Amino acid sequence: MKTQPVQAGFERWAVFEKIRTANRMHHREVGQALERVLTAGFEQPPRILDIGCGDARDIAAILKRVSAGDYIGIDNSAAALDGARANLTGCPCPWRLIQGDYAEALAAVVPPFDLLWLGLFLHHLDSRQKRDLFEQAAELLGPTGRVLAHDPVLLENEDRDGFIERIQRFSSTWPELAAEEREMLARHWSQHGCQERLSRLNAMAFHAGFSEMEILWRDPAEFYALLAFRRLKPSV
Ligand SMILES: C[S@@+](CC[C@H](N)C(=O)[O-])C[C@H]1O[C@@H](n2cnc3c(N)ncnc32)[C@H](O)[C@@H]1O
Repeated sequence: MKTQPVQAGFERWAVFEKIRTANRMHHREVGQALERVLTAGFEQPPRILDIGCGDARDIAAILKRVSAGDYIGIDNSAAALDGARANLTGCPCPWRLIQGDYAEALAAVVPPFDLLWLGLFLHHLDSRQKRDLFEQAAELLGPTGRVLAHDPVLLENEDRDGFIERIQRFSSTWPELAAEEREMLARHWSQHGCQERLSRLNAMAFHAGFSEMEILWRDPAEFYALLAFRRLKPSV
């Protein structure tokens, strides 16, 4: 099935906010895992690049508690970046926001980074764009750098239609949504996004020069995963 790329996120931001507040996309657990990586995963305070940062609320809260070299957030939504600016105010590390399509914005950043953070961003890209992004990531990261990605993923024996049917069934009982909001969400999922199987993401990253994908966290219903991809050490 051919899907439309997500251009402007959810049709109604309020619905995204409701399911985010109910932790349906598991920002809470993922934020905790991200904080553990940022606290203990690097020898030096890491340089962080966040593509599709949105309002950066979770990472901004983390950056007020852990040391970072600097933080750059990229998003094509001016409204999201207004929120990010407010949330990042008071962070002790240097930070900067770039508005625009990520592919163009990447030309304005100076590598190397230690962490490329992709929070619910990868499924906005088609498969070709994801492969290209992994290639770019390998160039943007230093030798011990890594990509962390929180994203909805397909089961290995599932295609996208199966995933959409499964998540629509799962979300049909969410009490925080009114009936018409559930319909909007179902429409959003069926029209937008390009979710992948874990094996395919692993293959794309491996092809770009990353080591075996690590699954840092998975929700019990297996809709979302937090994945880590490390740069392969250059051979000597
Ligand atoms: C689902 S939101 C995720 C926000 C946040 N990272 C999180 O985890 O909650 C995806 C974000 O990606 C941004 N986005 C989508 N396509 C983009 C593109 N081509 N270039 C830059 N940002 C994009 C959207 O504006 C949106 O803020």
